[in-house]
Amino acid sequence: MKHSVIAVENISKTYGSGESAVVAIKEATFEIFSGETVALLGPSGSGKTTLITMIGCITEPSGGKLRLNGSLVYDYKWCISDTRKLRRENIGFIFQSHNLIPFLNVQENVTLVPLMNNVSTKEANTRAKELLEYLGVGDKLDKIPAQLSGGQSQRVAIARSLANNPKIILADEPTAALDSERALSVMQLLRKLAHEQEVAIIIVTHDERMLPLFDRILRVEDGYVREEDRL
Ligand SMILES: Nc1ncnc2c1ncn2[C@@H]1O[C@H](COP(=O)(O)OP(=O)(O)OP(=O)(O)O)[C@@H](O)[C@H]1O
Ligand SMILES: [Mg+2]
Repeated sequence: MKHSVIAVENISKTYGSGESAVVAIKEATFEIFSGETVALLGPSGSGKTTLITMIGCITEPSGGKLRLNGSLVYDYKWCISDTRKLRRENIGFIFQSHNLIPFLNVQENVTLVPLMNNVSTKEANTRAKELLEYLGVGDKLDKIPAQLSGGQSQRVAIARSLANNPKIILADEPTAALDSERALSVMQLLRKLAHEQEVAIIIVTHDERMLPLFDRILRVEDGYVREEDRL
């Protein structure tokens, strides 16, 4: 049974105040269900990163409501005391740049969050190896990020975001650093994950070729979010 994973109601974000205020998102309302893959499109500066970092409880909204997995997490203020714990346990993030921890090796980068969530070392290592293998960087376990190419780092970052079995995956141009074949296979992996494990995925992308792989398309323009009709 499909259930509501992300429910956004009249959410808005204004950076700064007075003369210098920038309205990044204007009263957005939409809902995303388990198993859905959603593309988030829009020109540079339209508010895409602002929107997904609000859903990921990283950027504090200026107003509105946010429900994740049915729980109210923001209602004109945060309703939960520990947004980091919520994030760690429920959300996988893939950023525009990989944000790997430079002094940990590949395997340690991927197992860090599961270990913080009290997953056993054995289980965390096994899952990390599986994911890294799948993403084509299984031979890099003991390398540090500085020893990887941009595309390899991004694949490690994707493995890391999947390591805690999140029900929500938020990705900001995850395939920008990958060649088109690898980008396509990463997208297919994310889609398979969404459908098989009832994960809800929002991906910011500029790549029109990827659009057929998504169930829905949201477009941000000048801070307004609207759903695009599929043909
Ligand atoms: N921390 C901040 N402080 C002030 N203004 C910000 C901040 N972050 C973003 N903005 C502004 O909010 C607007 C939306 O920015 P955002 O980063 O969400 O756009 P984007 O759609 O992700 O763009 P891109 O495709 O270039 O990544 C822009 O006008 C930007 O300058
Ligand atoms: Mg952005």
